[in-house]
Amino acid sequence: MWRESRDRGHGGNRIGSQIIRTLIDRREAPAQAVLPEELRSAYGGDLWFPPPGPERPYVIGNFVSTVDGVVSYEIAGQSGGGDISGFDPSDRFIMGLLRASADAVMMGSGTLHETAPGHLFVAGRAYPEARDLYARYRSEILRKKTPPLHVVVSGSGRMDLTRAVFRTPGIRTLIVTTKAGGDLLADSGAASLVSTEVRQLEGPIIAPAAILELLRAEFDVSLLLHEGGPTLFGKFLADGCVDELFLTIASQVAGRNAPPPRPGFIAGVGFTPETAPWLDLVSVKQQGNHLYVRYSTAHGKKTVLGVLPNRR
Ligand SMILES: NC(=O)c1ccc[n+]([C@@H]2O[C@H](COP(=O)([O-])OP(=O)(O)OC[C@H]3O[C@@H](n4cnc5c(N)ncnc54)[C@H](OP(=O)(O)O)[C@@H]3O)[C@@H](O)[C@H]2O)c1
Repeated sequence: MWRESRDRGHGGNRIGSQIIRTLIDRREAPAQAVLPEELRSAYGGDLWFPPPGPERPYVIGNFVSTVDGVVSYEIAGQSGGGDISGFDPSDRFIMGLLRASADAVMMGSGTLHETAPGHLFVAGRAYPEARDLYARYRSEILRKKTPPLHVVVSGSGRMDLTRAVFRTPGIRTLIVTTKAGGDLLADSGAASLVSTEVRQLEGPIIAPAAILELLRAEFDVSLLLHEGGPTLFGKFLADGCVDELFLTIASQVAGRNAPPPRPGFIAGVGFTPETAPWLDLVSVKQQGNHLYVRYSTAHGKKTVLGVLPNRR
């Protein structure tokens, strides 16, 4: 359990030795707080999400990037987000909070391959110090009785089915793949996995809207946490299927040299000045040299934030 003390001057709060300060918050707080006091205090404010539309879940992304926009060193054994954030506790705390809030956590197969085989995409794995608080928030306030559905997207169906996400009792996992991927997974014995289901959609590049429709209609997902990676997130952003981005900016500089270049949080998509999405700033938090920025993609649209001033 973390130690907590309020820094009244900045609205910041102590988690272990960390203090998250809220520097900017443009989202009007709900009349009644959502987060329980201890989590609200640790996060430096409340956290809530608009309800989903009828057709698809509300989609929030979460990435950590260096100042120069790199999300992976692409060095064997050092390509994960931890090496980008410097294993920053506040980044992990926020990731845990988002997982605790979500009905489903989604990742592409590339991101799954880069995690430890035993990893589960649940709140307590991101920040074990708050495991009990996350669990109480999830079950008592959000009334979600099970951990988030794990969703893995793969066109090829190539993945290691001995991973914990596919065989942990109590963790329900959905593999979204293509016809070819489904055939390969069937040959690999996926049907014998008790807590894992396979669904086939049209490919080879599966349309984000089809994934979201499936999750909303058949898996009752209202809030989807998109944990990347850049290829899957790029397609979702390009197709207008992301509502918010939680971006941690770690104050290190990675650089880029030999191909393939180290990715930013978008890969496989290149916008032009005419097509590039602009984001609205929702909040900025800070701890030490890290910034935790929350953006909305509802630029220039009438939103729960009201109409924000356009950047252009
Ligand atoms: N810093 C951070 O916050 C952060 C977050 C996430 C990931 N990462 C890093 O990013 C790197 C992985 O990047 P990535 O771009 O390869 O990750 P990715 O998007 O998770 O995985 C790419 C793979 O996902 C599948 N995929 C993605 N979009 C698809 C679609 N629309 N339809 C069908 N399949 C789709 C494909 O799998 P198949 O090849 O199986 O068809 C594709 O090869 C890793 O180093 C990881 O650690 C960093």
